[in-house]
Amino acid sequence: MGGEVPSSEGFREDFLYMELNILTFIYLIGAVTFIIGLKMLAHPQRARRGNLLAAFGMTIAIIGTIFLYKDEEGKGLHNHIWIFAGIFIGGIIGVLAAKKVKMTAMPEMVSMFNGMGGACAALISITEFNRMVSHPTVHSLPPSSFLSATVSQGELLIILLGLIIGSVSFAGSMIAWGKLNGTIKDISFKGQHLLNLIILAGVFILAIWLFVKVDGLFRFDGNSVVFTLKGHLIFYAVFFLALLYGIFFVMPIGGADMPVVISLLNSFTGVAAACGGFLYDNKVMLTGGILVGAAGTLLTILMCKAMNRSLSNVLIGSFGGGGKAGTQGKKQQGAYKEIALSDAAVLMAYANKVMIVPGYGLAVAQAQHACHDLEKLLVERGVDVKYAIHPVAGRMPGHMNVLLAEADVSYEKLLEMDDANEQFPTTDVVLILGANDVVNPAAKTDPASPIYGMPILDVELAKHVIVNKRSMKPGYAGIENDLFFQKKTSMLFGDAKKVLQDLIGEIKNL
Ligand code: TAP
Repeated sequence: MGGEVPSSEGFREDFLYMELNILTFIYLIGAVTFIIGLKMLAHPQRARRGNLLAAFGMTIAIIGTIFLYKDEEGKGLHNHIWIFAGIFIGGIIGVLAAKKVKMTAMPEMVSMFNGMGGACAALISITEFNRMVSHPTVHSLPPSSFLSATVSQGELLIILLGLIIGSVSFAGSMIAWGKLNGTIKDISFKGQHLLNLIILAGVFILAIWLFVKVDGLFRFDGNSVVFTLKGHLIFYAVFFLALLYGIFFVMPIGGADMPVVISLLNSFTGVAAACGGFLYDNKVMLTGGILVGAAGTLLTILMCKAMNRSLSNVLIGSFGGGGKAGTQGKKQQGAYKEIALSDAAVLMAYANKVMIVPGYGLAVAQAQHACHDLEKLLVERGVDVKYAIHPVAGRMPGHMNVLLAEADVSYEKLLEMDDANEQFPTTDVVLILGANDVVNPAAKTDPASPIYGMPILDVELAKHVIVNKRSMKPGYAGIENDLFFQKKTSMLFGDAKKVLQDLIGEIKNL
């Protein structure tokens, strides 16, 4: 009667095996939610749910790792207090920062969070390097005499890659953060690009040296095998030079090129995190890192196209929007004409088709709700109202889409640049709200302009152009805008929110 009673060792093994299978399954769910979540982010209506779904996947992956992970010896994570204290403190800071941040300061926050990801990857590499060199495989013949020690070169390669990419990403993101909030100025000097290349070459030469010579950097001190000071110095020199490269690489970049850099650094962090996934054989970390790396790279390429920058220029840090842009700002222009609020109201209220062009100024003024109110009012009067969205309007990818979604503007009303450009010739009135560079015709007509070649919204093809801004000051790229001086353009000065509220009042009185 009854079967054979399994040994307690057998039970333990079965149990471990089951736990590992559950963890693998959790990782699979996590990875799938990342992919579906990312896909859902592509559409504003599904973006919030996509974000929540991916966050859910990440949460179960973290909890699963904390409680179910076992190493080869069957040991799990034990320092739970440290882990949960870190999660708790980091979580509170993250929630408060995300709740407090203004729409216009979002790119800074993206930079800061991205930098933290890079720092994590670099710290993982430092920790794992020290663990690896303090436990090498020791070969001794005869037993008393030490001959050599070796470490896994595959592991070392991943450690070095994570260290370099993570450090560049961390240092570069911190500089980008400082530049975006105005605490760090664009700095460029003669020979900077050469210096960047020399630093980068230094990083790779030292890293390759360490990789090739690592086994020769151990010595026997009589009792045990130790990794030499020289070996440690080479490793930390790679770390230091990678940080320096991150700083010098972003330092000269300014003006219109900054979004490309942030996106590129984002992809770096993804790749660095994927290295961590390799190192720990953690599938969900690997998938997450690869997804961020791939998405960031694609976004970088798309933004390079949208801003007419080549990726190779970005990679060697050889462009500087700020410096070049400044030279254009002082060009003398003709006269511009202003339009009265009441005239602007009549023009729009009796138009067939109005196209609104939102820009950074709309975000500054927090005028998205007033803008939506104007749109609703015009639609009630039978006007066809659409929004023309330039891919780099504002200060980060998708800035305008998010801003308008916040005010419940229907996604169907948002036209991407190419579709909008097709519709301008049949548009009666274009209302530009705090946008400048993205409607600057110099991008098409002036080869000397720093934004030459950047695709722009062809607003001048419409019958009337009304530009709302507070003054004649230039936009982010620091250059004059010929559009403001063209015959069909009228300036409507004032803060975007106030102007929109007044326009609504005027139209209601018509
Ligand atoms: P900008 O060219 O920066 O122009 C914004 C305009 O808004 C300014 O000329 C400013 O003129 C006006 N403004 C500021 N506050 C205002 C307010 N309260 N009410 C009304 N107007 C106000 O913006 P854009 O056309 O959106 O172009 C974006 C630029 O940023 C591009 O150069 C782009 O490359 C760059 N950039 C984009 C991104 C991404 S990915 N979107 C990221 C970083 C940089 P006044 O001061 O006279 O009011």
